[in-house]
Amino acid sequence: MIGTACTVNRHAILARMSIPSDTLAGSGSTYHANMDTADYAAHINTPAGRVDYYEQFHEPVLAHARELAGARRPRMLDIACSPGFELDFIPEDIEVFATDISPDILPEVQRRLGDRAMFFAADASNTALRPGFADAGMMVNAMIYVPGQMLWTMFNALQPGAQCAVNFRSFNNPNNAVFYDHYLERGGILTEADLKVTDDVHLSVVGLDYRGCVTDDEPPKPDEKLQRLGTQTYLGSVGDMVTLVTASGFEIVSHEPYQFPSPVNPCNEVDVFILQKPAA
Ligand SMILES: C[S@@+](CC[C@H](N)C(=O)[O-])C[C@H]1O[C@@H](n2cnc3c(N)ncnc32)[C@H](O)[C@@H]1O
Repeated sequence: MIGTACTVNRHAILARMSIPSDTLAGSGSTYHANMDTADYAAHINTPAGRVDYYEQFHEPVLAHARELAGARRPRMLDIACSPGFELDFIPEDIEVFATDISPDILPEVQRRLGDRAMFFAADASNTALRPGFADAGMMVNAMIYVPGQMLWTMFNALQPGAQCAVNFRSFNNPNNAVFYDHYLERGGILTEADLKVTDDVHLSVVGLDYRGCVTDDEPPKPDEKLQRLGTQTYLGSVGDMVTLVTASGFEIVSHEPYQFPSPVNPCNEVDVFILQKPAA
């Protein structure tokens, strides 16, 4: 069930009668076909470029990675990096591996970060990452796409005892209402859907479908940037986030809410978890 904190108009818009089979399909590989780094910064609601986010969540995970790596250079994996604003803060001693399904953005990030990082295009559902190679991980605004596979891929890539930082935007958090309403007013569609985590664990989630979004022009035109975001998945509660991360095998080190302003919402709130792969 969708909880009670969201506004009535968003409840009314939920398409309960027919759930398209591709409700949680994601963006596919064309997310960045019409969106370069500057467009991304102007449109997308991420805390990735905020130094306080780095200091609060990524810095402790990297400190832990240094302890695990000992004398060698710690390796950090970023899944769904997009323009990789979160990577701008990573110190030189960390070896960065970053991946995204959308290849168009990666040359831009590689130019910005140079030799400090290695980028490759990959679907998080199907990567060739060596199991256990990473000492740390980060996924910022990544759980909106194939969240179960994202977590599983990160889990598999981390060495036992390694940590990652992961954020979620709850559908039912009142601070996020402005975010959802912005896209609903421009042709976005919300649909209730079932997210299968394991054979035994299913979560009721919300799909946000951008494929019909239009611009603010008069008359409105198809919004070629937003439509490429495809369909996103949003969990409804912290309890569901805990269910998902624990079903993926992680131990929860910490969970904290984090607020930040973004292009469409002056006060977003995301839930940030530091997760640990159990020690061997
Ligand atoms: C909202 S962006 C987040 C990017 C960045 N971490 C940030 O916070 O600014 C989501 C990214 O997920 C990528 N993505 C979508 N589905 C994916 C998948 N199955 N595997 C890997 N990346 C995916 C998209 O191409 C997009 O760049």
